[in-house]
Amino acid sequence: MNKSSNAGDQWANSSIEPARDQWVTRMGFILATVGSAVGLGNLWRFPYVAGQNGGGAFLFVYLLMVILLGCTVTLAELTLGRHTQLNALGAYRKLRKKWAWVGGMGIFAALIIMFYYSVVGGWVLKFVVAACTGQFTSNDPAVCGQFFANFASSAVEPIIYTAIFLLATAMIVYRGVSSGIEKASKVLMPLLFLFIVVLVIRSVTLPGASTGLAYFLVPDFSAINGKTILTAMGQVFYSLSLGMGIMVTYGSYLDKQSNMVKSSIIVPMLDTLAAVLAGLAILPAVFVFGFSPDSGPGLMFSTLPAVFSQMPLGQIFAILFFVLVFFAALTSTISLLEVVVTYLIDEKKFSRRKSAILATTVIFIFTIPASLSMGPWADIHFLPGMGFFSAVDYLSSNILLPIAGFLLCIFIGWVWGVDKAIYEITNEGSLEFKLAPVWAFLIKYVAPIAILLIFINALGFLG
Ligand code: PHE
Repeated sequence: MNKSSNAGDQWANSSIEPARDQWVTRMGFILATVGSAVGLGNLWRFPYVAGQNGGGAFLFVYLLMVILLGCTVTLAELTLGRHTQLNALGAYRKLRKKWAWVGGMGIFAALIIMFYYSVVGGWVLKFVVAACTGQFTSNDPAVCGQFFANFASSAVEPIIYTAIFLLATAMIVYRGVSSGIEKASKVLMPLLFLFIVVLVIRSVTLPGASTGLAYFLVPDFSAINGKTILTAMGQVFYSLSLGMGIMVTYGSYLDKQSNMVKSSIIVPMLDTLAAVLAGLAILPAVFVFGFSPDSGPGLMFSTLPAVFSQMPLGQIFAILFFVLVFFAALTSTISLLEVVVTYLIDEKKFSRRKSAILATTVIFIFTIPASLSMGPWADIHFLPGMGFFSAVDYLSSNILLPIAGFLLCIFIGWVWGVDKAIYEITNEGSLEFKLAPVWAFLIKYVAPIAILLIFINALGFLG
């Protein structure tokens, strides 16, 4: 079958079942999957969390968790998708009818993450424009922070930027897996890595860069405790986009000859590489210009513009940086939207066109309260003390993802069974998978317990 030529029009309504779209190349699949994983979690959260939690020692723990938890669960999700060739809900239902709701929960999580992630995407777009038009002139983070706050809390402008960001996402997803997502990822991801390397070179060659490097890299093992380990595990889970059916969906477009073991090692490694490079790009610069690295989300929108304003050729680096963040956010929202769209195509038998338009419209409607909750609607709470933006973030990241991830491990490890999973992973016995017993142990015992602990910690029960 010629995979590339059937991509364009196969989704048109017709009485014949359209063939399911597939990744054309292994590289394309890897880049799209890494694209989903590399996002704001790598670019701003990882660097400062590492800095706060023991620097190099945290890096060490994080790497261990990527191997134990990240690779293990990535492989489980891909396997479920490739075996069933279905969306997250359909995949569970095909194997055990009663489990369909678990897949549904993942899809719901992907949907509501889009409500706030698209708003952040809109902010990033605004900062690309601001960088290009030379609006970052102040070297005072308070002034830059005010610029951000004024923009984000206004009623109309952020919604317009969100709409543009969402439209860009929708246009790629609309074109399908091989001719939309795969093609876009093949351009965006290499550029993303190129830009990040340029920024690392600029940052580590600034006079005085060593303080920031030390903060990020010198191990302080005394800073490692149970809490740090849980933080690392939570970060692995979020950073690899696990628990919401993304890897199930992307796995469902794999052909039966693909080597999923290799992919589930390469993807987490590249994601980690992006996180480490982000740390090397951001932290030295932040320290050189005397700023504090632990200002959370504000780091990106208030500290960094101030940093760039003092840097020789700062405007160029500001543009590079925000375009990089834009690409990272875009490839993440593409994967989120695709989860929902695949569901509508498989389960509701809609065309891809109709699915993409419907999902995007619904998402856009809900980005409006998310954006307004940063300003005009700040006092309207949807969960105790939380506006719509924070509420959907909390609900998805802290509640739905851990539950869906936990149940995924239970499903693969105990309900469907590791033997059947391993049969799929080894391409019906034709591929070698030496670590099969280790993987089986990790998915049955280690991963579910780890996720349960992350969950309890996120709810605040561990102090
Ligand atoms: N993995 C992305 C990041 O590191 C975040 C994300 C989570 C993207 C869930 C999509 C879905 O930022």
